[in-house]
Amino acid sequence: MPNDNKQNEVKEDPIREHTFDGIEEYDKKLPNWWLFTLYASIVFSFVYWIYYEQSGIGKSSEENLAIELARIETVKRASPSYVMGDTELWEMSWDKSVVSNGKATYIAFCVSCHGANLEGGIGLSLVDDTWVIGGNPTDIVKMVTDGSPAKGMMPWGTILGDKKISEVVAFILNHHEIPAEES
Ligand code: HEC
Repeated sequence: MPNDNKQNEVKEDPIREHTFDGIEEYDKKLPNWWLFTLYASIVFSFVYWIYYEQSGIGKSSEENLAIELARIETVKRASPSYVMGDTELWEMSWDKSVVSNGKATYIAFCVSCHGANLEGGIGLSLVDDTWVIGGNPTDIVKMVTDGSPAKGMMPWGTILGDKKISEVVAFILNHHEIPAEES
C-alpha cells in the first residue's frame, strides 16, 4: 500500500554526499542533550584540573585522610582517659615544645637527684641504658608515676599529673633513641 509508506517518511534528514561501498550516511544533527553533556564535561574537567592540580586548594584523598587522622589523633589525646603508648611518647620526645615543658618540670622537681645532665647522683642516671623496671617509654612513665619509695624516689603521679609526667618523660626520651629492634 503506497499511501502507508508515504506517511512513514516523516521529514528525513538529508543524505551526505559521499558513499562508501554503497553505504550512505544521514547528515544528522547531534542531539542537544548530547552536546550539552560533552561541553559540560569539558568545562568540568577544566575546573577540576585547575582546582585539584594547579591551585593547591583542592586536597587529594590521601591529604584529606591524613588531615582527618591527625584530627582524630588530637581529639583522642585530649581525652582525660587517654593512656599514652610507647609510640606516642617517642613522638612527643621529638616535639620541641613538649620537650621544653618537660625540661622545666625536670629542673623544678628532678634535677636535684638526677643531675643537670641527667647523669644521676642521688638518683640513677637517666641517660644510660640500664633501667630499674625497663626502658620502654611506658615503663618510664610508670616509674615516675609510682616512684620507688623504698629506694628514695617518691611517686610523682599525684603531684605532677599525667600531662606533666608524659612531658618530663618525653624530655628524658629526647636523650635516647628508639632501640633498633623496636623501630
Ligand atoms: C629525692 C631524689 C629524687 C628525685 C627528686 C627524683 N628522683 Fe627519680 N629516682 C631517684 C632514685 C633514688 C631512683 C632509683 C630508684 C630505684 O632504684 O628503684 C630514681 C629512679 C628514677 C627513674 C628510673 C631510672 C632507671 O634507671 O630505671 C626515673 C625514670 C626517674 N627516677 C625519674 C625521675 C623524674 C622524672 C623525677 C622528677 C619528676 C625524679 N625522678 C625525681 C631519686 C629521685
